[in-house]
Amino acid sequence: MAEDYQMLPGALMKGKRGIVTGVTNHQSIAWGIASQLAAQGAELGFLHVPGQERRVTPLAESVGARFVAPADVTDDASMDAAFEVARATFGTIDFFVHAIAFAPRDQISGSFVENATREGFLTAMSVSAYSFVDCCRRASALMPEAGGSIITLTYMGSERAIPNYNTMGVAKAALEASVRYAARDLGPKGIRVNAVSPGAMRTLSLAGIQGGRAMLAKGRSLSAMKQDTAMEGVAGCALWLLSDLGRSTTGEVVHVDAGFHIMGFTEDETAEG
Ligand SMILES: NC(=O)c1ccc[n+]([C@@H]2O[C@H](COP(=O)([O-])OP(=O)(O)OC[C@H]3O[C@@H](n4cnc5c(N)ncnc54)[C@H](O)[C@@H]3O)[C@@H](O)[C@H]2O)c1
Repeated sequence: MAEDYQMLPGALMKGKRGIVTGVTNHQSIAWGIASQLAAQGAELGFLHVPGQERRVTPLAESVGARFVAPADVTDDASMDAAFEVARATFGTIDFFVHAIAFAPRDQISGSFVENATREGFLTAMSVSAYSFVDCCRRASALMPEAGGSIITLTYMGSERAIPNYNTMGVAKAALEASVRYAARDLGPKGIRVNAVSPGAMRTLSLAGIQGGRAMLAKGRSLSAMKQDTAMEGVAGCALWLLSDLGRSTTGEVVHVDAGFHIMGFTEDETAEG
């Protein structure tokens, strides 16, 4: 299944072991990242939301996963059990991939001000931002003295008001701030913490957002390169940050969006004179 994407074979991750979360199907960004890590020799364990064993296990087995275990980030007992599987299998880990987000549908459509309920807002924050802090604490406890690398996935809706992205944009802003604070705390232990910020990509999460198709189309037409964000580019950035190539980079949010975030006026707007 790794052949779905054109991953670079090599040995950058040889001898490294780590955990990948957030794989639901072959379109998941986490799957693109896992495929690239496996192509570079990493040993992987997968944590998935409970109930998705049948979808995730064949993908995980296709890259020789050492374990596949359920983990609901809103349930401490489930997280304790999942990290115990990781500890028992690997002893120590060198990297961790957090690729998890969720907001109730009414929180990612229409008016932010009108639709943001206390419950919906807190759910988005808990699953999409707090879970990262919890994962940093748990993953760093398994990392050796030599240190390690942790990444998460964010989106530019944290920086700008993207239609419908709403509460998820606020949660992503909290996530990006958490990256910086975690990088500060874990830096002295040699643990780097970064975020990859892809442009819109065709995944289950995007399908859940009202206007997801428009996000894809605008992501392409308004980008500097006039291209979709490629899974290979996102996975390549993750590989850089998770491997020793990224050894002096921490606390960063790296955009991988064909230059969507750098654009000011579009060509149409400047043509208006
Ligand atoms: N698709 C895009 O356009 C895009 C762009 C930028 C960033 N991202 C981010 O990338 C990450 C991965 O999303 P994706 O687009 O690959 O979609 P996806 O639906 O394939 O992945 C989201 C994952 O979150 C998991 N999840 C949700 N609630 C959970 C819980 N309580 N416990 C454990 N896992 C839970 C889901 O099971 C799923 O595997 C997300 O953080 C998303 O916000 C996506």
